[in-house]
Amino acid sequence: SVSSAFDFAPNLFPLSSTAQGYTALGAPSNPALDPSNALNGASLEKNKSLTYLNGLSLVVGLIIGSGIFSSPSQVNRNAGSPGASLIVWVVAGILAWTGAASYAELGGAIPLNGGAQVYLSKIFGEWAGFLFTWCAVCVLKPGSAAIIAIIFGEYLVRAIIGADAADASVWLNKAVALAGLVLVTLLNCVSTKLGTRSADIFMFMKFFALIGVTVIGIVVAVTGFSYKGDASEDWKKMGWFEGTETNVSNWAVALYAGLWAFDGWDNVNYVTGEFKNPTRDLPRVIHTSLPLVIVCYIMANIAYFLVLPAEVIESSNTVAVAFGSQVFGPIGSLILALFVAGSCFGALNATTFTSGRLVYAAGKEGYLPALFGNIGLGKSHRAIRLHSLNANPTKSKLSKKFIDWFADADAGFFFTPIAAMALNATLTAVYVLIGSFDTLVTFYGVAGYSFYFLAVLGLIILRVKEPELERPYRTWITTPIIFCCVSLFLLSRAVFAEPIQTLLVLAFMAAGLIVWFAWVGRRINKEKGRFRHAGSDMSEGAGWKFWKRWRK
Ligand code: ARG
Repeated sequence: SVSSAFDFAPNLFPLSSTAQGYTALGAPSNPALDPSNALNGASLEKNKSLTYLNGLSLVVGLIIGSGIFSSPSQVNRNAGSPGASLIVWVVAGILAWTGAASYAELGGAIPLNGGAQVYLSKIFGEWAGFLFTWCAVCVLKPGSAAIIAIIFGEYLVRAIIGADAADASVWLNKAVALAGLVLVTLLNCVSTKLGTRSADIFMFMKFFALIGVTVIGIVVAVTGFSYKGDASEDWKKMGWFEGTETNVSNWAVALYAGLWAFDGWDNVNYVTGEFKNPTRDLPRVIHTSLPLVIVCYIMANIAYFLVLPAEVIESSNTVAVAFGSQVFGPIGSLILALFVAGSCFGALNATTFTSGRLVYAAGKEGYLPALFGNIGLGKSHRAIRLHSLNANPTKSKLSKKFIDWFADADAGFFFTPIAAMALNATLTAVYVLIGSFDTLVTFYGVAGYSFYFLAVLGLIILRVKEPELERPYRTWITTPIIFCCVSLFLLSRAVFAEPIQTLLVLAFMAAGLIVWFAWVGRRINKEKGRFRHAGSDMSEGAGWKFWKRWRK
């Protein structure tokens, strides 16, 4: 049965190192999952096991995370009024919905692992796929991990030292965020199972927190009960559209914050190929999970508005703490803070797991120095481990149980992409230190929506260029068109709304293109024998020589 995103990750970034004779990372030892097959374009043989409900809980679980407990402040500040904020949440949700439907069609038409990297490569050429991977490694993965870590820090600090005291020290928040990051990274370096075993608990926590907020909000509005009294009456006098922002750039910033909470819809592709009955269930999953998330988020926001004055919502990223303390006093804020911190910790764990595999796959592909395609602590570690596995087939019952539970099948501890995860953790730590929730959300959104836009544009191009291609799921053509128009608006406003973050993203992209055309692309093209004058100056440039030395 399917219980968490982790069950799919091995299919997303397949890692079975069959050449070495063991299966790393607990991935199923299925030759169809060999990365070289996926990257060579062979279609994958999948074990089709998903039912409608599995898919539903998976997609909803992937999307709900830190955002609904942290974005409302930035949405409200930039939209200007409660009514306008709700509109932003609806628009963000619909954008995610159209995006998810478009990605589902892409996933069906190009049934290969790797997500956007593969779609962009197939449609625009390998440079586009490389650029995506480059930005995912440098910006998207560490950026999103940093946002989640920061929210984890803010909530946990408030849980420990109280709801109000914490605003004083940004650095305490950041220190706790970094501690969480280090812990999660170590956990994922030791073993894959260690992380996956805990995923379900965290998944449960966030559902509980979100549903709790909604139910409490409604109860408070109906009964008027609240620990701090009067605020629950305020909403009756509230001007829902008073103060609505008229500057479109501010609306764009509000949208980026809302979109963060809906992010993760691109992972719908985890499920595209796995259904027992995809033509029936895939559209059903998409068209129920996204509306469900949209409704949950709207309800939670209404709950915030019913219980808290707008200034309070706008004043911090930890709206759920303010909410808990308003309704139940210190105990309420403590409980909500712990639940949200748990939810963020789970999300951080999941994203660390997938980032490790993304960087690892990029290292194997030759997109990054080969070091990052290593598993474990190096050759000697591997030899020792294999030796001890062969030499001691019988273990005491207890230790066997322990290893079965926590270690990775056939490999034991530390057979994880350690170098890859170290790179990801380092970049994440840098973003935690120099960024804040507000700045990182826009930074992440601009980079993320550039590639979502390109991929969905690719869908339209593919419809024109290859109309006969088999598509198990087809969206209405209006869906990708709406997505492209809205995301283009969003991207075009970014420069005016947040010039620094936007320029930074553009700089990363430019650097990626330079790396591709100066080094990596040449080498890969040469290896594939595509160079007409192999060995000419073109392919043996100074950059390429440097790259070769670097890889040794
Ligand atoms: N929507 C999630 C949240 O609110 C963010 C998910 C980030 N994960 C991802 N794969 N992009 O925290």
